[in-house]
Amino acid sequence: MAVARGVRMDRFQTAVPLPVNADRIQLQQVIINLMINAMDAMADMSGPDREMSVYTARIDKFAQVTVSDSGPGIPEDQRKRIFEPFFTTKAQGMGMGLSIARTIVQSHHGRIWAENRHGGGAVLRFSLPLMRGASANRSAERHPAGLTAPAPARPPAA
Ligand SMILES: Nc1ncnc2c1ncn2[C@@H]1O[C@H](COP(=O)(O)OP(=O)(O)OP(=O)(O)O)[C@@H](O)[C@H]1O
Ligand SMILES: [Mg+2]
Repeated sequence: MAVARGVRMDRFQTAVPLPVNADRIQLQQVIINLMINAMDAMADMSGPDREMSVYTARIDKFAQVTVSDSGPGIPEDQRKRIFEPFFTTKAQGMGMGLSIARTIVQSHHGRIWAENRHGGGAVLRFSLPLMRGASANRSAERHPAGLTAPAPARPPAA
């Protein structure tokens, strides 16, 4: 996807797994929406200037996913509104991507927000609570057998 759009992409994943209790498909949808927005934001830039990175981090008892780009960033007066349904600045946009992303993240007891990078570009982040076993310090390193397995994708509650 990134290669086809001439975007350079970096990925950094934590060495230690960050198990969350989440619907895998829905989380993929969140990340893909963020990545498509990042690439849309860089569409008018020349090839070598298009950079996107996706990385994970652990912040206290949360797993955090960050998607950042080297595009124009988000005007300060729009930064909160971009999550509203039908808010779009794109000719062909529906304005639903971030609204759906927020609904999914919140249904997993997480948060999603937007920042701007100092050097220009947008930073979209979301965080999800880690599963309880992961919250003890370094427990993941000491008990890899129990925790390295990917978190099971549970069907959404009916
Ligand atoms: N990475 C980004 N850089 C700059 N602006 C962004 C970025 N991500 C989102 N935005 C702004 O937020 C608006 C809303 O994004 P959202 O994904 O909800 O809708 P959309 O991309 O316009 O349309 P859709 O996702 O429904 O195709 C965008 O139109 C754009 O103005
Ligand atoms: Mg979008």
